[in-house]
Amino acid sequence: MSTTRGLEGVVATSSSVSSIIDDVLTYQGFNIDDLAENASFEEVIFLLWNGRLPKKSELDQLTKDLAVNMQVPNEIFEYMKAYPIEKVHPMAALRTAVSQLALYDEEADEMNEEANKRKAVRLQAKIPAVVTGFSRIREGKTPIAPKESLSFAANFLYMLNGEEPDETSETAFNKALVLHADHELNASTFTARVCVATLSDIYSGITAAIGALKGPLHGGANERVMAMLSDIGSVDNVDSYIQKVFDNKEKIMGFGHRVYKNGDPRAKHLRDMSRRLTNITGESKWYDMSMKIEDIVTNEKGLLPNVDFYSASVYHSLGIDHDLFTPIFATSRVSGWLAHILEQYEDNRLIRPRAEYVGPDKQEYIPLEKR
Ligand SMILES: CC(C)(COP(=O)(O)OP(=O)(O)OC[C@H]1O[C@@H](n2cnc3c(N)ncnc32)[C@H](O)[C@@H]1OP(=O)(O)O)[C@@H](O)C(=O)NCCC(=O)NCCS
Repeated sequence: MSTTRGLEGVVATSSSVSSIIDDVLTYQGFNIDDLAENASFEEVIFLLWNGRLPKKSELDQLTKDLAVNMQVPNEIFEYMKAYPIEKVHPMAALRTAVSQLALYDEEADEMNEEANKRKAVRLQAKIPAVVTGFSRIREGKTPIAPKESLSFAANFLYMLNGEEPDETSETAFNKALVLHADHELNASTFTARVCVATLSDIYSGITAAIGALKGPLHGGANERVMAMLSDIGSVDNVDSYIQKVFDNKEKIMGFGHRVYKNGDPRAKHLRDMSRRLTNITGESKWYDMSMKIEDIVTNEKGLLPNVDFYSASVYHSLGIDHDLFTPIFATSRVSGWLAHILEQYEDNRLIRPRAEYVGPDKQEYIPLEKR
């Protein structure tokens, strides 16, 4: 038996949800560039779950279903108040709360297709309320109920801040959600598929996926990018800071990718949004620093920015707390996880690979008293 470290290049399943071919990302065959410019996040959810764009009536229905299912049981917020809240990262809170949501869903263990689709809507709808509710509770504020009249993107910002967002913020946030929605067999999606391939329930699959997304080599990178930008502080410090990171042989968060070799197609949209938003907020230093870092890292290491690099300054410009960046990634990616979970259930086989054994051989058991 031979191994491929990190399963690099291994084709582990077939899927029609999304593809990365020659550095082009598509959802169900639609180029991400087209979707980023034109689609609402609700349209993308429909696309990922149904394999086609919705008609107007179908989109209206899904939009309504999401809006009416956004409220979470109050018990979830009561539990949050009992967390050791000043020490809890919002991704840990999200992981716990999603697991708890299953306890309040009477269909949690119902495995037929229709029940699974209903649960997908409920889960997708409730994640924004969980993320924003936690954010408010830790600030000593009351969670805000969603408004059925608002879009998914606007509702998130409304529940976070208590004010309806302006059009620029809603459009930017919608685009960020569209860009993060799915990404072929990334680590968290694979985790979700492995989990439900045991015929475990959707909530378990999403809880497991959130755990995988939390890591800094995956979704956790965006928060660390902002920490790096904050540490650097100004464009003048970029050169020396990055040189030090190189000298210490550390990784620069937001750069590199396992699959893309000529750049992440999502990065240019986020770069553009970062330029525009930082201009509006009068804090173009975040964009300028990011551009300079990109220049150095690309020229010296041949590494290109990934989705997480410019999303950091985008979310910061929207006034979002830095440790909420990864939960926002989850808020979007849950749409892709759910699409993959539904696809896995449709044609399931247990995912159970092998490991090459490299431990000691022919050991002899020695009784405890003789060791
Ligand atoms: C995304 C990532 C995990 C892909 O990893 P991977 O395919 O396993 O690639 P490796 O970590 O094996 O890296 C290959 C080489 O490039 C280097 N490299 C990769 N990403 C790097 C980065 N961000 N900064 C500095 N060096 C990097 C590695 O040090 C390694 O060099 P070596 O061969 O001299 O040891 C990796 O690029 C990374 O850690 N990036 C930073 C975290 C991040 O932005 N994650 C979000 C991904 S969307």
